[in-house]
Amino acid sequence: MRLRKKYWARPEMENSHIVITDQYAYKGKWDIEFKNSNPIHLELGCGMGGFISEKSKQNLDINFVGIDLKDEVLVFALRKVIEVREVKGEQNVNVRLMPLNISFIDDVFEKDEIDRIYINFCNPWPKGRHNKRRLTHSKFLASYKKFLKPGSEVWFKTDDTELFEDSLEYFKQCGFEILSSTYDLHESGFEENVVTEYEAKFYALGKKAMFLRAKLL
Ligand SMILES: C[S@@+](CC[C@H](N)C(=O)[O-])C[C@H]1O[C@@H](n2cnc3c(N)ncnc32)[C@H](O)[C@@H]1O
Repeated sequence: MRLRKKYWARPEMENSHIVITDQYAYKGKWDIEFKNSNPIHLELGCGMGGFISEKSKQNLDINFVGIDLKDEVLVFALRKVIEVREVKGEQNVNVRLMPLNISFIDDVFEKDEIDRIYINFCNPWPKGRHNKRRLTHSKFLASYKKFLKPGSEVWFKTDDTELFEDSLEYFKQCGFEILSSTYDLHESGFEENVVTEYEAKFYALGKKAMFLRAKLL
């Protein structure tokens, strides 16, 4: 998606304690930042923040970090967290947002620091030579394993069948067990689903969401 540059986005984000711009300063110290030792869940490619704002509201005993490459969407995620969570002033909240290219994520979290990862509708990168850019590619899974606790889970949703089927293989090859998978999440009876902005758009067009839960062995 091509986005118009929003020059006001970075100053607005830097003005909020919810946005972390010194990304590498918290490795091994996220419990200090959150002022508790609750589990930490990540959303990779959080986009406009509908998922993370709602999840963090439903799970106050879990800390959430939403990561995206683009200030142009992250600034709206910030506004959504503030609106949905009714964050006022410097009140502490169980969400942080971070502008970051996920290629550098293993410098941000310490071994065994993270309890779950959500990847929702990442770019499918269909051309073979671009497959390595998929956020579920074995290359990325190897870097997530550096900070995921043993037994922790990755929850992955996509509307792209090829990406879904390749991802099932990536997870198996990288030492994850597939706990569940479905080609039609919305008809699967899974009740914990929180619909993302992207998901709402394509669901309205009659497309199906695929979903898997993989556990690190
Ligand atoms: C198709 S959008 C989905 C957004 C959201 N998860 C949803 O379901 O509505 C993919 C998002 O991933 C982000 N993204 C893609 N590659 C990334 C990377 N390497 N590092 C960080 N974010 C990335 C994009 O900026 C975009 O916001």
